[in-house]
Amino acid sequence: MKTIAVYNNKGGIGKTTFSVHVALYAAKHHIRTLAVGLDRQGDLCRWLAGGDCEVQDGLSYRHSDYLHVVYSPMELPARIANYDLVIADCPPAIEIVDSVTADMWLVPLDGRLAMENLGNIYPSLRRTKGTITLVLNRCDLAGKRVVEGLREAAEQIPNAVVRGAPIPASAAIAKAAEYFRPVWEVPYGKGTQGDRAIQQLCADLLTDCGFGGKL
Ligand SMILES: Nc1ncnc2c1ncn2[C@@H]1O[C@H](COP(=O)(O)OP(=O)(O)OP(=O)(O)O)[C@@H](O)[C@H]1O
Ligand SMILES: [Mg+2]
Repeated sequence: MKTIAVYNNKGGIGKTTFSVHVALYAAKHHIRTLAVGLDRQGDLCRWLAGGDCEVQDGLSYRHSDYLHVVYSPMELPARIANYDLVIADCPPAIEIVDSVTADMWLVPLDGRLAMENLGNIYPSLRRTKGTITLVLNRCDLAGKRVVEGLREAAEQIPNAVVRGAPIPASAAIAKAAEYFRPVWEVPYGKGTQGDRAIQQLCADLLTDCGFGGKL
């Protein structure tokens, strides 16, 4: 069983978007997945319920044969052993790195402010065990210097890699959150640049976690 925690102390950066897509992509490939809403806002649980859901303590439901969803603010639930993959949507709070153990910390970084943001969370990333995967979101808004700087910075952080499949700012990805669907299921979403990038990211992450044979 592998645990991926999607983390950044900044709000609105893509944590829930990445968590939902990795969860749905994994389930689509028959990887038994538990999606955990660690964030009190409950956005992941609401999205995976199709928007129609009152998020409250104790909420737990079956999305499909391969995907279960649980609302568990600030800490992972006790019973996670039956799953191949746990994907946890973290709140924008640095303290979460001290209460969650994960094999991979997936960190979305906004194209415009990636370096500054990475500098702020660096001390907390150093406290984590597991690998650290940095992904540029809205990458088309980042200059070439940011992309290069990020790679250089990652070399200085133990266990960190920059994923080679950055995510562009995409109308289809924005639409996914409005429709409470994955980008490949929204109207005119499938096959767009945003869809291809996000599916590539999911495939890369799951391969890094050892699920390549299932994809
Ligand atoms: N690559 C992208 N292209 C277009 N829109 C995006 C992209 N990534 C994220 N968004 C949009 O930005 C908004 C914030 O994304 P998201 O909710 O995933 O961020 P978050 O980090 O989980 O925020 P919070 O800290 O509030 O939980 C959403 O409306 C989402 O649809
Ligand atoms: Mg969120």
